[in-house]
Amino acid sequence: MVSLTFFSSASSLSSSPSKIVKSSLDFELKKLGGCTKLVRNVNLEKLKNNYLFPEISRRELEHVKKHPNVQLISLGTGDTTEPIPKQITSDMSNFAHALSTVEGYRGYGLEQGDKVLRKAIADTFYGHLRVKSNEVFVSDGAQSDISRIQLLLGSGVTIAVQDPTFPTGNFHEATKKYQNVVYMPCGPQNSFFPDLSKTPRTDVIFFCSPNNPTGYVASKRQLHQLVEFAKTNGSIIIFDSAYAAFIEDGSPRSIYEISGAREVAIEISSFSKFAGFTGVRLGWTIIPDELLYSNGFPIINDFHRIVTTSFDGASNIAQAGGLACLSPVGLKEIRSVINYYKENRKILMETLASLGLTVYGGINAPYLWVHFKGSKSWDVFAEILEKTHIITVPGSGFGPGGEEYLRISGFGRRDDMVEASRRLRSFFNTRTKHFPFLSSASNTN
Ligand SMILES: Cc1ncc(COP(=O)(O)O)c(C=O)c1O
Repeated sequence: MVSLTFFSSASSLSSSPSKIVKSSLDFELKKLGGCTKLVRNVNLEKLKNNYLFPEISRRELEHVKKHPNVQLISLGTGDTTEPIPKQITSDMSNFAHALSTVEGYRGYGLEQGDKVLRKAIADTFYGHLRVKSNEVFVSDGAQSDISRIQLLLGSGVTIAVQDPTFPTGNFHEATKKYQNVVYMPCGPQNSFFPDLSKTPRTDVIFFCSPNNPTGYVASKRQLHQLVEFAKTNGSIIIFDSAYAAFIEDGSPRSIYEISGAREVAIEISSFSKFAGFTGVRLGWTIIPDELLYSNGFPIINDFHRIVTTSFDGASNIAQAGGLACLSPVGLKEIRSVINYYKENRKILMETLASLGLTVYGGINAPYLWVHFKGSKSWDVFAEILEKTHIITVPGSGFGPGGEEYLRISGFGRRDDMVEASRRLRSFFNTRTKHFPFLSSASNTN
């Protein structure tokens, strides 16, 4: 195993295909003018062009051209669609208006985030878990902090990721895997939790729960195993809890619910899916004081250095919004938006299960992971698009472990969910006999 070059492009997981401008992503090597003498960064050279969402986008454009009068529905998006509750936007707008006054004007803030917001994050999400305000770093989104964590770790570390996931690195066409990255298969065969007895040691274990794309949440027992595994190996877990607000079965919302996690885990989270802040941009990262390098140096000190050097802090308007989210009224209003998405995914889940499809995830996350046994996920994607004008996401785009699956998202307008369900019912009911992938109805998480 050599080195990690770059991993996880979470926003690619959430990009709405229709929002992607094809030409900007489909890079072709063209000589547009005289070259400079600058040699391309070898780590960037190893990256495969982001294929999944641009390809979906290309097929979507082709489909619209072929069927100009159809109403296309996207069940593929990881972006939020519902308005941000009024209380929250009005606090943001009051703060913004005050910036036009001498008393209310604020310039640069603390790079680590506003003190009151850091405390509110520590109290609201980790009140009982010993996380202190000084361990909370406010960011402009989880995605940016995942990149800053890479700056922290350097390119010499080894990494393990769940499969399916969205790793990038030195891609090997034959296996559809990136070299130097350990893939931990997560599927129904192992309750979507890696078999750690078969997982080699790596410096870093990137772990997302509730998971994008499978919608699966790890149980307390499983996370306990993960923490023990990291401890035994002297590894660090990077725990992505961006979808924690969707958990409803009592599974851990934070890795720090597991004893011993403070010595082995960093947690990255976000206001994006929690409060519809995908456009506003706000997130946070927790680095516990007890997390140390092999030489005993505290990792928090280096992260502090990175944040204060390469980041001048999240927008103060976004932070005002974050604080409003964490007020009692804000939390209540946010809950009703999350419930809206949950109802969406319930409608989809009932529809798909009633059609005899095996549906995973969805209970503690906005994503359904639908199994089409024996089929190629791009073929199923194409057939569903052609016959129902619905966009989904082929599971194989998330790694070899995603073959035979589609990711279907509960983010969207209710009318679209109802109409999509109607179309899917009518399509599958007329096609049942011919479909090889219909198995007995089930629904697990
Ligand atoms: C698992 C996961 N983590 C992080 C993110 C990105 O969050 P943010 O919008 O805060 O950058 C996403 C976005 O879809 C995601 O799916």
